[in-house]
Amino acid sequence: MKHLCKRLFYGVAMTATLAACNDNGPEPQAEIVVDYSSKGAEVNPKMYGIFFEEINHSGDGALYAELIRNRNFEEGVIPSGTVYKDGYAVAPHSPSYGDARTHDWKVRWDKDSLEMIGWQVEGDAVHAIVNNRPLHPNTPNNMLLKMKGANTALINEGYWGISAVQGDNYDLRFYLNPESYKGGVKAEIISSDGKVLASKSFDVTPGSGWTEYTATLTPDATDGKAKFRLLFDAPGNVRVDYVSLFPEKTFKNRKNGMRADVAQMLADLKPGFVRWPGGCIVEGATLENRVKWKNTLGDPMQRASEWILWNYHCTWGFGYHEFLQLCEDIGADPMFVANVGLSCDFRNGDFTTDLKPVLKDIEDAIEYAQGDVNTEWGAKRAAAGHPEPFKLKYIELGNEQWADMYADRYNQLYKVLKEKHPEITFICTFGLNNRLDLLDKVDMIDPHWYVNPLYFYENNHLFDDVERGKYDIYVGEYAVNQGVGPGNLDAALAEAAFISGMERNSDIVKIASYAPLIENSNHRDWATNLIWAKSDSVVGRASYYVQQMFSHNIPNYNLETIMTEILKSPYDGLIGVSGNNVAEQYRNIKVMDAEGNVVAESADLSEFEKIQPDTTMARWMRMPAANMLNNVNFTGGTVEFEACALREVFPSRRNPERIDSITIYPSLIFGADATNDNSFTVNLGSFGRESKVNISRKVNGMSSRNRDNSGGEFDMVPGQWYKVRVEFGDNGKVTCSIDGKEVLSQEVELLTKHYAIAGYDETAGETVIKVVNGNNTPFTADIRLNCSTVDSKGSVITLSSESVKDENSFADATKISPVTTEYDKFDKYFKYTFEPNSFTILRIPTSQK
Ligand code: AHR
Repeated sequence: MKHLCKRLFYGVAMTATLAACNDNGPEPQAEIVVDYSSKGAEVNPKMYGIFFEEINHSGDGALYAELIRNRNFEEGVIPSGTVYKDGYAVAPHSPSYGDARTHDWKVRWDKDSLEMIGWQVEGDAVHAIVNNRPLHPNTPNNMLLKMKGANTALINEGYWGISAVQGDNYDLRFYLNPESYKGGVKAEIISSDGKVLASKSFDVTPGSGWTEYTATLTPDATDGKAKFRLLFDAPGNVRVDYVSLFPEKTFKNRKNGMRADVAQMLADLKPGFVRWPGGCIVEGATLENRVKWKNTLGDPMQRASEWILWNYHCTWGFGYHEFLQLCEDIGADPMFVANVGLSCDFRNGDFTTDLKPVLKDIEDAIEYAQGDVNTEWGAKRAAAGHPEPFKLKYIELGNEQWADMYADRYNQLYKVLKEKHPEITFICTFGLNNRLDLLDKVDMIDPHWYVNPLYFYENNHLFDDVERGKYDIYVGEYAVNQGVGPGNLDAALAEAAFISGMERNSDIVKIASYAPLIENSNHRDWATNLIWAKSDSVVGRASYYVQQMFSHNIPNYNLETIMTEILKSPYDGLIGVSGNNVAEQYRNIKVMDAEGNVVAESADLSEFEKIQPDTTMARWMRMPAANMLNNVNFTGGTVEFEACALREVFPSRRNPERIDSITIYPSLIFGADATNDNSFTVNLGSFGRESKVNISRKVNGMSSRNRDNSGGEFDMVPGQWYKVRVEFGDNGKVTCSIDGKEVLSQEVELLTKHYAIAGYDETAGETVIKVVNGNNTPFTADIRLNCSTVDSKGSVITLSSESVKDENSFADATKISPVTTEYDKFDKYFKYTFEPNSFTILRIPTSQK
């Protein structure tokens, strides 16, 4: 199947080009033709999965149902593999596998404030977090209370509040070592204003050593910001550890389970797979700090918790077994991400050269998941209550490792593991731009994209030209996380455009997962996350509903879909040049129309009007001013001018004593609106790529940077004048020459932000058409279905909102969510108007003979 999905015409009236399907309604701006003559690529019914990583308190404090924060008093323990020095936890100074340099990774460490996170002591008592006489050696810390008075309260505020629901049961478990204490203890859930909502008294036997106490607490009122308290009624010394409170109603009522509302949000995505445990944390800030899946098994009281590189301590209550169980509970395939003996290259980059234990650890993980109950690790799974195997579908070997050294490790591990487990897909962390030639054999690669909306809009075709036959693609992490605050509809629609490109290329893009998945909105580590949670509520962002719409509407196979649009010429608009000191950078500018008539000519730039850039940005990030020739409406022709690059010097950002410099290259702006928020720029040597001549696009103030290596080579020497000639030819072809030598010839087109794909759902007998309209105006298209029969009655699922800046919120959780309506005007040839700022799915009953 061809990947063509868009044809563009410049300035031709639609009615002259295409026969309109009927006379009613708005003039169509495009025609979408769905071709049934051949089946396109099959689409993986489990294409859309989810990426879980402990980041933003996504597990502890959101998905994992534990209500007590810092239940084991281990929050102050420094990251494994670091030592405490002068207020920092410092990593070993060993060379990094990425660049062979010794890195100085460290993190600020204030033990005193960290170890009491979540807790507060009231009353006449002194307290200390100590690690002698541990309840369990894996989590040695415990709280020692030395009480002088008769009323001491140990209070926990949970993860920014405990959700207490009237009439619901809460399972309490805690441990005391009474030492010299001779009183009783009362466990209570209290409201945010101090009222007792549930209470249970326990007798404490003096000298009994570490003793477990359990109870069910049932609040008599609801409060999303409740607290938990242990009340001691006598003086004496007592130790406290592992204080745990769980809602009885977890997802599927699992013990040590997931929060029902948050897990339900995951289930509602119908994810094809779940990736666990990440992300960077798989690698660790140091190798010792990596995720050790074996430590995440067994009784949660005995699990070694660990500081994770998103800067908090993780209980690992949502461990390997819970992950496998969750997959089973929501019908998703498990994807386990294994450490391959490398720590995170952005942090410390330390590594092991001994691959034997690395391999053994992965083999054990496989055995735990699906080995026979008579095997060592299979027996542990059975002991945890699941004798039946969980079927591991994917294993990713490492995370975001792009260094050459990784390839060798991947080759070695893959060879052994694939031979033993041909049923598992082993994923390589390389993306499209890494040294794929270093890999012997690869099932799947894992490129990631965190970008601005424009990038996804512009890269709907990114996968069309990827070479086939060498590997499948898992788009393991992607999201719009720039220029959209914590997320908005703009991000969601741009993602929909990008996903459309993935789905159209389903012969090579087999699976994908948005990242990151969840945040507790009181602790945002990462700018945009799919699901927001607080103690008593959960919200899916607009992007969540885009994921859901794709995942609920996967066709069995694609149908070739060609969208023909009418565009205005990309040249129409103002022209200008960029730079703050144009008098020093440009001279002798001459603008000619398509017939060669001179429409403007000037020795200097006195006729140009300056548009100042955003001066709130740091100087080194600031774009130069645009200088527009206001009285000339350019529609094509030729522009000639002389230009030179300027070297600017300024005090270094890092060290003001030092002088840094930057080269300001000249550039020509065309097709601009009055504010230059929408335009194209011919860059004559671009930022960071001195030798490049290329064309970038600006849409609604957001600039695309030419990320591929397209564009011509030319090294402009600062201070030297060059003769530049830019010709604007037919079909958007822009040609640029410098001193008579052609350096660039590139076609440009306006970004319409309209995308359409189609596929066939055999079970439903429906054609499924997905259309993105990223503009704030309606989009009308004539749709032609080249099939045998069409039933006029089907359905339309629409996600839209008034402004692309809109987003869901805790106050209005489903403001932007899909609305399904019945529609009875489908035909073989029909007209449909897509709402402004929308993602729409048409489900049309059709048949092909
Ligand atoms: O999703 C957040 C982080 O982004 C992941 O941990 C890492 O893999 C990527 O850099």
